[in-house]
Amino acid sequence: MSPFDDVSETQHQVETRALAHSTWQFAGLVDELSAPGAWLRAQLLDRDVFVRRADSGQLRCFDNACAHRRFPLCTTRAGSGRLECGFHGWVYDDDGVPIGIPRNKELFGFDRAKQQSLRLPEHRVQLVGRFVFVATGAAPPLDAFFGGYHSTLTALSTALGPVSRHTEEQLPTCWKHSVARSIEDHRPPAFDGQLLGTDFSSPAELRGVREGLHASVTNTRAAGTIAHQLFPNTRIAVGLTGALVSAHRPVGSAQTRLEHTWLPWKSQPLPVPALSGSDVTAGWYRAVFDSLGGTP
Ligand code: FES
Repeated sequence: MSPFDDVSETQHQVETRALAHSTWQFAGLVDELSAPGAWLRAQLLDRDVFVRRADSGQLRCFDNACAHRRFPLCTTRAGSGRLECGFHGWVYDDDGVPIGIPRNKELFGFDRAKQQSLRLPEHRVQLVGRFVFVATGAAPPLDAFFGGYHSTLTALSTALGPVSRHTEEQLPTCWKHSVARSIEDHRPPAFDGQLLGTDFSSPAELRGVREGLHASVTNTRAAGTIAHQLFPNTRIAVGLTGALVSAHRPVGSAQTRLEHTWLPWKSQPLPVPALSGSDVTAGWYRAVFDSLGGTP
């Protein structure tokens, strides 16, 4: 059986749980979490979560399932406000504890200790630049998990401007197929059609560099564009006009939601490095840093 064969729902859950146990997963950009009460919902490999800015300013990540009957607390991709379940109105505090239970005395009789015991499961959340990552299991420290990509993400965070658009597409396929397709295709028109036209690149024009669990594919045509594949399910495609962050969200064994967030460079146009081959990746970031007056 190939890792890319379709699997049953049960097998899908076993796989995603095992993978999620040891990885950091991209949840979204901190740009949308600037004010207290702001939250982002993210479908990670193994569970639905939300990351929320508490009144203290801290980012907290919890399972997106009400302790009463598992109804999702956050029902849209992003939002803000108090945490109130839309089903029967349980209200949660910043620590994920249900502190407001309508008709508690009459229906449940929960005391404070019982309410504390119903606290939502919480997960580690950490930033790399503007990128928000969540660990639902025993992932290694973030620095170790990302290796060289830690500085890449930090550099991109500084060089990229505000989000210009967010789009989603539903794919009738498992998330692994979706990731594999994005790696194999690396189709420049998807994110830089203005620069590269509408034809596809040939395999000879693509160069891959692996770093730990992650990899970069550089397109050497027209000064190069780079697609960073962050294990397990995020791609950051970097081109002359900006970057496209794509997250492959599994919503079942044969259903994937592909979320795209587009961020143009802060300063345009970015200098075009006259480079080729393996120098291209380094050259891009040198160009980015140079344009900011910094050093790589
Ligand atoms: S499911 Fe949330 S209050 Fe009932």
